Amino acid sequence: FQNFQYFKSINFRVRKMKVKRTQVGIIGAGPAGLTLARLLFESGISTVILEAKDREYVENRVRAGVLEQGSVELLGRAKSDARLQSNAQIHKGIEISLNGDRCRVNLEKFSGGKHVTVYGQTEITIDLIEVHTKLGGEIIFEASNVMPRDFETKTPVIQYESNGDLTELQCDFIAGCDGFHGICRSSIPPSKLKFFERLYPYSWLGILAEAPPPSKELIYASHERGFALYSMRPPTRSRLYLQCENNTTLDNWPDEVIWNELRCRLGVKDANLIQEGEIIEKGVTPMRSFVTEPMQYGNLFLAGDAAHIVPPTGAKGLNLALSDIFYLSNAFTSFYDTGSTKELKSYSKTALSRIWKTERFSWWMTSMLHKASETDNFENRIRLAELDYLLSSEAALSSLAENYTGLPY
Ligand code: APR
Ligand code: PHB
Repeated sequence: FQNFQYFKSINFRVRKMKVKRTQVGIIGAGPAGLTLARLLFESGISTVILEAKDREYVENRVRAGVLEQGSVELLGRAKSDARLQSNAQIHKGIEISLNGDRCRVNLEKFSGGKHVTVYGQTEITIDLIEVHTKLGGEIIFEASNVMPRDFETKTPVIQYESNGDLTELQCDFIAGCDGFHGICRSSIPPSKLKFFERLYPYSWLGILAEAPPPSKELIYASHERGFALYSMRPPTRSRLYLQCENNTTLDNWPDEVIWNELRCRLGVKDANLIQEGEIIEKGVTPMRSFVTEPMQYGNLFLAGDAAHIVPPTGAKGLNLALSDIFYLSNAFTSFYDTGSTKELKSYSKTALSRIWKTERFSWWMTSMLHKASETDNFENRIRLAELDYLLSSEAALSSLAENYTGLPY
């Protein structure tokens, strides 16, 4: 909010402002903003996406790639699923490993016939951008000083700079799809929002390796040395994660240490499970649960990571962003078709109901599978009891499968 006041006083008087007009101004070309733009385009509603980074940067971010069926259907409605339909993998189960003892969870059986689709988020972003630009949708990359304004009025604007021009984008609504560090949430007066947050005492070290998949399904491993996850970017790459300390740096993780640790946490009973390959990316991700309430202020609507974060265990971040977009795109379409603001008014409440259930699931999976502090021996015993219960109870497995494959919209 303060940024906005500062910007207003500094920038307005010095340069001539160009004016542009659209129906829904979208800030952020991540999966949330791009999918919203695609769905609105298909309904004949005009949008402009303003994105701070360049196209290459946006198309190269490596993130989780496990899709619920609802997400796949939405990408179909967004006409961006052609490559996904031919290249993605259908997974009907996951494996849970406890100190090397592996147990397959039959997702299809326990969810009543559902599955997940494995297709990298990077590929989804590439597909959405390609289709949208080909069909004439407008994405302005490298837009700087993007600033939503006047959203408490009926005439919101987004001010931005691009190629040296200062432009005012006039719109009916603003969609804040600009991720956790974006400008939209922080432009709303803090007194109008409530935040809920949990930070975890561990992080994930993630690697992308040119190594053939050692297993056809994802392996979530709880080990006395800490959590590990085996995932994949078919057909040739493995995506692997290790629980690590929050203050760790990449210097602590030379390739050899990573492979040893992966072999130990994911292996034991299958010592040759992990196949090494060239590591082409390495990074540390902190673990956070975060929710903003409400997700609307005036004519500014927040969606995706701009409004909430989940820890990555269970791969719900992208799916949650897309379920927000399902509700938000329906609400905009209903408004432009009938003039009714009913769905727009209930957007935040409707979306938050599903968000909190997914937050609960991500928190539960994270807490159960990660090693807690050595000093918290009670917590560590409870986690083991939770895992033991899960793997021995059809009711618990059904709950895992129902949530993992995605709650209904
Ligand atoms: N102006 C314009 N664009 C911005 C600004 C800004 N001030 N701030 C951020 N952005 C852009 C970012 O560069 C990014 O491209 O907004 C986009 C937000 O995209 P994401 O972070 O991918 O967020 P979202 O679309 O909600 O997707 C959620 O991404 O982080 C994962 O786990 C998460 O999978 C989930 C998905
Ligand atoms: C990934 O493929 O990056 C991935 C998969 C499953 C998760 C998290 C990340 O739970």
